[in-house]
Amino acid sequence: MATLNGNFSNLQAGYLFPEIAKRTSEFAAKNPDAKILRLGIGDTSEPLAPSVIARLRNAVDKMSKVETYSGYSDDSRGTPELREALAERYAAYGVELATDEIFVGDGAKSDSANIQSLFGGGNVVAVQDPAYPVYVDSNVIAGKAGAGSNGQYDGLVYMPCTEDNDFFPTLPSEKVDLIYLCSPNNPTGAAATLHQLKTFVDYARENRAVIIFDSAYASFISDPRLPRSIYEVEGAKECAIEINSFSKEAGFTGVRLGWTIVPRDLVCEDGAVGQLNGMWSRRQNTMFNGASIIVQAGGEAVLSEQGQAECKETIAYYMANARCIKDCIEGLGITCYGGVNAPYIWMKTPSGVTSWEFFDKLLGETHVVGTPGSGFGPGGEGYFRLSAFGHRKDIDRAVESIQKNLKL
Ligand code: MLT
Repeated sequence: MATLNGNFSNLQAGYLFPEIAKRTSEFAAKNPDAKILRLGIGDTSEPLAPSVIARLRNAVDKMSKVETYSGYSDDSRGTPELREALAERYAAYGVELATDEIFVGDGAKSDSANIQSLFGGGNVVAVQDPAYPVYVDSNVIAGKAGAGSNGQYDGLVYMPCTEDNDFFPTLPSEKVDLIYLCSPNNPTGAAATLHQLKTFVDYARENRAVIIFDSAYASFISDPRLPRSIYEVEGAKECAIEINSFSKEAGFTGVRLGWTIVPRDLVCEDGAVGQLNGMWSRRQNTMFNGASIIVQAGGEAVLSEQGQAECKETIAYYMANARCIKDCIEGLGITCYGGVNAPYIWMKTPSGVTSWEFFDKLLGETHVVGTPGSGFGPGGEGYFRLSAFGHRKDIDRAVESIQKNLKL
């Protein structure tokens, strides 16, 4: 007799973005004339870079001829060319990586959900609060968290990210084993300094903890003093896994490509040097046949000189959107954060209005969709996230509608 994975019943709510989509569709059905402006999910809107399109086309053409067709990859970690190009990117940050420390995957979301499988059930998991929901939900499903109530789960350690700590957590007071950090942060838009990351690297090395560092928004950092990779902190290779993505940097949200670094030096309490790297390799070989060869060719083009120049233009376009949204919100006298080194604006909801109440208010009064801060954890209550991804004309319309119609 088959039985269910009972951990699923611990999950407290549906996944955030489908829930937003559902509520938005219900509103649209009741208000068929409303032009809905979507600043909710961080989904890219601008076309792929021309050099990327050319490489993708070329890779498709190769599949059409018997001489150049290719089937399964020889190596589920990714093509040597793409992994070498990624190693060069890290070298530009002053970080030396071997290609066998780089695992190309189908995006940061799946890797950030699957990576916990390397660690035993008894590990104490710490998350920033608020945080990208995948970190928490994947650990709940895996049984690394207990029952939930009021948006939190037993057994998880929540590290508050508030205005008072510039949305970067202080070290947990209890001993934790796995620590999820995201910088530039989704949802708050805060980008960690080298010093801030060092406090966690030092903690992890002392406690043989492992940091899972999500840097999916690193390309949006405009301040040259800020680190793009946790490995810019000395000693981080001993204690950190880094996960990144082509989604936001190159508009691959629908194309799907990302990478994870599991350094050879990485250790944990009962794991020898190199063991976690070997285990992730084993996991990927068993459960994944590698990212699409066509898409990986596109990834190589992203990392080329021309690809980088083209992608930077699109990033600048989104960041101009961010400025426009931030100016609008601040112009209304509402405090907001982010939008400078990240494509998210993290605004406070008007006093006494919860995040979901503000979702309804904003949608009802202005037809703008955003993301309730409480969807990222209890620490997000009283906040609301606006995404800077979108066509300029839609951002302009959203801003105009907020200025004109939002009743404060
Ligand atoms: C977000 O809006 O938080 C992200 O786009 C979701 C994701 O990357 O999965």
